[in-house]
Amino acid sequence: MVVNPVSTVYRGARRLSGFFIRGLILWDVRSTLAVIFTYFTENRKLKALPALRKGFADHRAEFRPADEKYRGIFPRLIDAYTRAKADQAGVPGPYRVGIMWQREIDSHCGELAAVLRDGDADKLRALMDNFHREKISLGLQGNSEWANIQRPFYKYLYVNTWYAFYRIYEELAGKQPPLQYPMVGNPAGLYHDGRVIPFHAIRYHYSAREMLNLLGETGHPVVAEIGSGLGGQAHALLANAERPVTYLCLDIPEVLIVASYFLMAALPEKKFLLYGEAPPDAANFQQYDVILMPNFVLPQLGEQSVDLFFNNSSFSEMDSETVREYLRQIERIGRGYFLHINHNTAFNWREDGREFHNLPGTQVVPDPTVFKKLYQYHWPLNTLPEELYYKGAGFLAFLYEKRRPGPPEMKG
Ligand SMILES: C[S@@+](CC[C@H](N)C(=O)[O-])C[C@H]1O[C@@H](n2cnc3c(N)ncnc32)[C@H](O)[C@@H]1O
Repeated sequence: MVVNPVSTVYRGARRLSGFFIRGLILWDVRSTLAVIFTYFTENRKLKALPALRKGFADHRAEFRPADEKYRGIFPRLIDAYTRAKADQAGVPGPYRVGIMWQREIDSHCGELAAVLRDGDADKLRALMDNFHREKISLGLQGNSEWANIQRPFYKYLYVNTWYAFYRIYEELAGKQPPLQYPMVGNPAGLYHDGRVIPFHAIRYHYSAREMLNLLGETGHPVVAEIGSGLGGQAHALLANAERPVTYLCLDIPEVLIVASYFLMAALPEKKFLLYGEAPPDAANFQQYDVILMPNFVLPQLGEQSVDLFFNNSSFSEMDSETVREYLRQIERIGRGYFLHINHNTAFNWREDGREFHNLPGTQVVPDPTVFKKLYQYHWPLNTLPEELYYKGAGFLAFLYEKRRPGPPEMKG
């Protein structure tokens, strides 16, 4: 074979420039230009870039809890994880972690799992101290932003998204968002009014507002979030609630540990129940403010014991068999509302010659004789990549209400 040095050099140059362009542009050239144009026409005047630099600086020195209670968090996390992993081994099919999230866990949580298995409280503390910027929160609204910000134009998109979320909140709620986010785990975001605020915090505050409106005057409501991620939603709801609310987080064990740390460190005045410490029964729902349990605990929860079930951007990432089982449990355990916010795109996964698929948002439907649909609408707080990936629509919100037993229907 004759090697043509000119074409070899040309191919090499193309490969290099492709690599360079992929690192530079945001999804495609048109989106990148739109992002820069929006920044210069809408947001440049806000002088947000210095605030962004400050928000993405290292904040670990600003969180230095030294008390016994804080140190006591780590052995509790290790015990809860050890018990959860032992029990996870025997769970039935729908409660096993689906392919998409098992792949995430395998590629991002190796170090966390090893530290927890070794029971090394000091290493766990160091990891948690910085979790928003560690691999463990990749795909979970923490490290994704930290990783993306390394790309030259992403800072403009971050500012655009932050202010778009802020304005949407203001417009729809009729007031400015009550922005707060704990300085736990070295968060990154825009520095605003003396605080680091990731744009995800704005969407958590917005959903918290929706949920609190639904709960109305219910005495001491119980909210259960399936796929609760890093705990940002739980924090926003508890921070905005003006009366006692119990928040139950259900997730896979590795992710649950990060959320447990985040919430326990951020809300030391609250009472926490972790897996294996006491049963998650109705009596304990009233005793604890925050209950963090692995997903497979769902069948153990009492009938009609949860006022609001919530799921955000996670049912549409799970295997359909799992979501169908979760829906049956929500029908049994729920006594009020079921609000979920998911995209409507179909996914398929292949593993060991078997094919799995998700349920797009419009197919995540509880039994209509048990829950009646109140409405479905375009969720207003979508990022640009969410709009691009999910058919230009981003996420949809679906609200269902449990039917109350009424008088038998009149005949004739
Ligand atoms: C994209 S994240 C969304 C997190 C959070 N809801 C939010 O809005 O920030 C998806 C979440 O679903 C969780 N998850 C994945 N499979 C699950 C399963 N089978 N049962 C419960 N949670 C699961 C993941 O661990 C992750 O926390």
